[in-house]
Amino acid sequence: MANIFTRSANGVMDWVNERAPALAPMYRKHMSEYYAPKNFNIWYIFGVLSLVALVNQIVTGIFLTMHFKPSAAEAFASVEYIMRDVEWGWLIRYMHSTGASLFFVVVYIHMFRGLMYGSYRKPRELVWILGMLIYLVLMAEAFMGYVLPWGQMSFWGAKVIISLFGAIPVIGNGLTEWIMGDYLPGDATLNRFFALHVIAMPLVLLLLVVLHLGALHEVGSNNPDGVEIKKGPKGNRWSPLAPADGIPFHPYYTVKDTVFVGFFLMLAAFIIFFAPALGGWFLEHDNFTEANRLVTPEHIKPVWYYTPYYAMLRVIPDKLGGVLVMFGAIAILFAVPWLDRSKVHSVRYRGWISKVMLVLLAVCFVWLGKIGAGPGTDPVETQIGRVLTFLYFAFFITMPLWTKIDKTKPVPERVTTHD
Ligand code: HEM
Repeated sequence: MANIFTRSANGVMDWVNERAPALAPMYRKHMSEYYAPKNFNIWYIFGVLSLVALVNQIVTGIFLTMHFKPSAAEAFASVEYIMRDVEWGWLIRYMHSTGASLFFVVVYIHMFRGLMYGSYRKPRELVWILGMLIYLVLMAEAFMGYVLPWGQMSFWGAKVIISLFGAIPVIGNGLTEWIMGDYLPGDATLNRFFALHVIAMPLVLLLLVVLHLGALHEVGSNNPDGVEIKKGPKGNRWSPLAPADGIPFHPYYTVKDTVFVGFFLMLAAFIIFFAPALGGWFLEHDNFTEANRLVTPEHIKPVWYYTPYYAMLRVIPDKLGGVLVMFGAIAILFAVPWLDRSKVHSVRYRGWISKVMLVLLAVCFVWLGKIGAGPGTDPVETQIGRVLTFLYFAFFITMPLWTKIDKTKPVPERVTTHD
């Protein structure tokens, strides 16, 4: 039996190979002969988890689109219909809305891993830049998605965020009107955001992810030790030409990743089934009420993944200044590969200054996120927000300095493992 199957499988492979001879080498290059460092730790699963989250968004999004009505008159009711009347509609909708937050959780951890191990350093600058472009598109994608259910926060969030463009001198007001297609968010806004959310942005996102992985596979993965396995000795039991510390991505990491994907899916299911709105953090309470241009919600705030930047916008007294600081906070991340002057890549071999700075950055970001999610009325909190914004920028602006003066430990020639 096995023989018949093997023979027919080989037959199919031969048939495909004859017609598309470039496919098998591509599979080898990216899977069975992609030699990844053997010392990956748990931080290295978040790239794959981002992929899983992306696929989940696309698949659930397709099913939502089958029932959603992209018009200001019908959108809210069509989401209610999905939640109550469409078979399994509630699950599909929560997998998508809660899934968006989980996507950002894994992407933020993925980015932090990059910062810890210096994964943005030469020769991986392009991998980082493409990652940052993904992050930008992802934020635009999530923002437009949030407008679609046409709840109170969809409407008022859209109004506040699009009106930010009004701060640009001369063209600001015209630009705001052009983006909305109206003087307030309305049917035209919803229509165009739908088109961008379901077609344009996902296409760009997919292209960027392919380029991100393509760029990574050209230079090879970094690892927790931050040493280049390609520069080390060659030869392992799979190939005399492969790096000695590399193992084939497939089957070794595909199997390992599958285990973690299983854990991730269990955790995601737990949140989706028991706390899909996560106390208002993943889906705000105000968005369960239909958009009403005559009633402003008590506190207008974006979803948690934008709140660090939103806090920066709010604590700066000047509107244009706030907008510049907010966009600057994202833009400065692009420059990280050129700001880091350390002799070593990984935080493992850096001194205490780098460790303290990394912790400080994480604390600033999370604390700003908390401030941005609050009502923004407490003057003490506003002062704290200003200090945190200052520290956030100080991290990057002074990076060339502290990465240079920080003491480093000797880096091993080859990657280290615990066995
Ligand atoms: C849709 C979002 C994303 C997906 C699907 C994705 C996917 C991946 C995958 C599968 C890997 C290889 C496995 C790993 O190292 O974890 C990777 C590596 C990497 N990603 Fe992403 N990524 C995304 C977003 C980002 C973002 C926003 C950044 C940073 C700005 C980023 C920066 C990096 C870097 C620097 C590496 C190389 C890591 C290393 O070799 O140490 N990625 N990405």
